[in-house]
Amino acid sequence: MSTIPGTQGYAAEAPDLLERYERMGFAGAHFAVLDLIEPPPLGVLDIGAGTGRDAAWFARRGDRVTAIEPTREMRDGAMALHPEPNIEWIDDCLPDLMSMRERTFDLVWMSAVWMHFDAKERSQMMTTVERLVRPGGALMISLRHGPIPEGRRMFDVGAEETAGLAHQFGFETVSAATFESTYAPGVTWDRLWFQKGLSAINRASKNKSPPDEPPSPSKA
Ligand SMILES: C[S@@+](CC[C@H](N)C(=O)[O-])C[C@H]1O[C@@H](n2cnc3c(N)ncnc32)[C@H](O)[C@@H]1O
Repeated sequence: MSTIPGTQGYAAEAPDLLERYERMGFAGAHFAVLDLIEPPPLGVLDIGAGTGRDAAWFARRGDRVTAIEPTREMRDGAMALHPEPNIEWIDDCLPDLMSMRERTFDLVWMSAVWMHFDAKERSQMMTTVERLVRPGGALMISLRHGPIPEGRRMFDVGAEETAGLAHQFGFETVSAATFESTYAPGVTWDRLWFQKGLSAINRASKNKSPPDEPPSPSKA
């Protein structure tokens, strides 16, 4: 059994999930945040990328994608399904993501991953993630609520507590949406979109002095 926190159950279920997660499609899963995604090309970090459904959507529109997936059975299947050359697949894991230490991204994407971790790990993860988002960049976290699938390690993590933690690390909430799953009865989702240092950036642009006026014509 895997000792990486959060991965419990995924290796055994990979063949089924590689079919099920793909069937949902990117827009079906993420309609609540589609309008918030900046135009390409972005540097995107997809953590817990699963079947690569989301990584491939970004790659196809021209983004440079780094996809982190520690479950070998998911990662191998995802690479076979999505051979886009602008996806870099990496075997690494939260909470530390050691391989990403020196890197920053325009968008850090965490779809259905955050609720696999306990409170202490979530706090560690926010430290990790904060370093990975460039100033002004974005962070998407989705949270699943409802019956826990057998064999998985999952916690009921609230949207408010997640936003509170993100705010402590310099993120601001741009959007928070809650909706019922159209695929799994009894399951609801939160989709949270944060921006790093939004107020600091707005303040800086407001305080910017206007461009120099053109020199006035000399009076003869
Ligand atoms: C519910 S799936 C979500 C997959 C994909 N993001 C999606 O939305 O379809 C959760 C994924 O997170 C991965 N995962 C679990 N623990 C992890 C960890 N410690 N670090 C990174 N990824 C992890 C699992 O292997 C699995 O592929």
